[in-house]
Amino acid sequence: MTTTTINKLSFHVDEQVTLKGWLYNLRSSGKLLFPQLRDGTGIVQCVAFKKNISEELWDKLKNLGQESSLTITGKVRADERAPGGFEIDVTDAEVLQNVEGYPITPKEHGTEFLMDNRHLWIRSRRQHAILKVRHTIVRAARNFLDDDGFILADTPIFTPNACEGTTNLFEVDYFGDAKAYLTQSGQLYNEATAMAFGKSYAFGPAFRAEKSKTRRHLTEFWMVEPEMAYATLDDVMDVCEKLLSHIAVRVLEERGEELKVLERDVARLESIVAPFPRVRYDDAVKILQDGHAKGEIENRFEWGGDFGAPDEAYISEQFDKPVMVHRYPAAVKAFYMKRDEHDDRLALGVDVLAPEGYGEIIGGGERATSLEFLEEQIEAHNLPREEFEWYLDLRKYGSVPHSGFGMGIERCTAWMCGIEHVRETIPFPRMLYRLKP
Ligand code: 4AD
Ligand code: MG
Repeated sequence: MTTTTINKLSFHVDEQVTLKGWLYNLRSSGKLLFPQLRDGTGIVQCVAFKKNISEELWDKLKNLGQESSLTITGKVRADERAPGGFEIDVTDAEVLQNVEGYPITPKEHGTEFLMDNRHLWIRSRRQHAILKVRHTIVRAARNFLDDDGFILADTPIFTPNACEGTTNLFEVDYFGDAKAYLTQSGQLYNEATAMAFGKSYAFGPAFRAEKSKTRRHLTEFWMVEPEMAYATLDDVMDVCEKLLSHIAVRVLEERGEELKVLERDVARLESIVAPFPRVRYDDAVKILQDGHAKGEIENRFEWGGDFGAPDEAYISEQFDKPVMVHRYPAAVKAFYMKRDEHDDRLALGVDVLAPEGYGEIIGGGERATSLEFLEEQIEAHNLPREEFEWYLDLRKYGSVPHSGFGMGIERCTAWMCGIEHVRETIPFPRMLYRLKP
């Protein structure tokens, strides 16, 4: 007997196979039972004829509850009308556990209830689709960087210093006397590995004690962070647009079924093609101010501030592709950013804003190379100098122009899937009021 999985049924048409999974749904109609089996690779409708199976098996199947674990043996029948294109004519089945009272039923549940049952919720069709898109995004990002000569050099999670400001650090007790923080970004270490390998990247979790309860903030999220030696802000923008175009193509190629489940407008993904518009912060501010003059924005945005979510949404609405906003006021950006040589108020940073209101999905830019400048910045930001000595070494021993960026996996996934909130884009989200399950 061939054991296979639902995604491989096309190789077994008219053959007897065994599938191992869980009961997704069960309908009956007189002498017929229609158990839907899910096995993690897909869902298939099975058909059990009362006259074709033993009475014992019929009774066993008839009373199965949702999410009962079972194996089903039967003949694979190609059927265009069936979802997925195949049905199984059941000849035998083995029940491992008959489940009663599975908490998540096909009826509507509230989000809090579903989040409390996240360990079970991830079995449902929509969650499943989102997490598969996430997997494709992760793999596409890795493949893109691997094929482009980047070396994977992962960075530590316990760190002695802050990378992205001190307001949202998670502090942990590190054997009593030393203070450690959960990393906000691997970047400072990436700068070291880029000096070692030329092009490197880190791919791991990042932590921000975000007190804000928004649809795009998690306290723990995953970030892919490439870093390049001998590279400028323009080089960063080139890689950003190529990476995102590559991800969009891979999602469209591999996740057509999932995008259908999510009712995603795929035309929006098809338009993610490099090159992307590059807009200076100054010009983005003008877009906002014009919007105010036209009565489309209530408050007039003043030069110098950081964009909020509604500002980002308004800017990106003016374009049908992601837009790369660069050269922000240094005051709203991190200490390590290089200044624009033509205007010292500006930092050579870029944010990539996704369309459809998804906002910033990438942040990055060119790093300051001057030892003196960084010493000043560390002091001005009240950062503990001794924890940055190793970082400053990078400016003493073979300093070169270098640049990089970080892309948040969850925000990218929410965008690709066209869903409202990042909490559904990671198996077990961590947020302000959510540490369970
Ligand atoms: O813009 P950020 O803070 O940039 C950095 O951390 C840089 N050091 C990265 C680098 O240059 N290597 O974060 C980068 C991206 C954001 O654009 C966003 O996609 C994601 O990380 N991100 C979050 N995602 C979910 N929840 C949060 N609280 C996030 N904070 C940032
Ligand atoms: Mg940012």
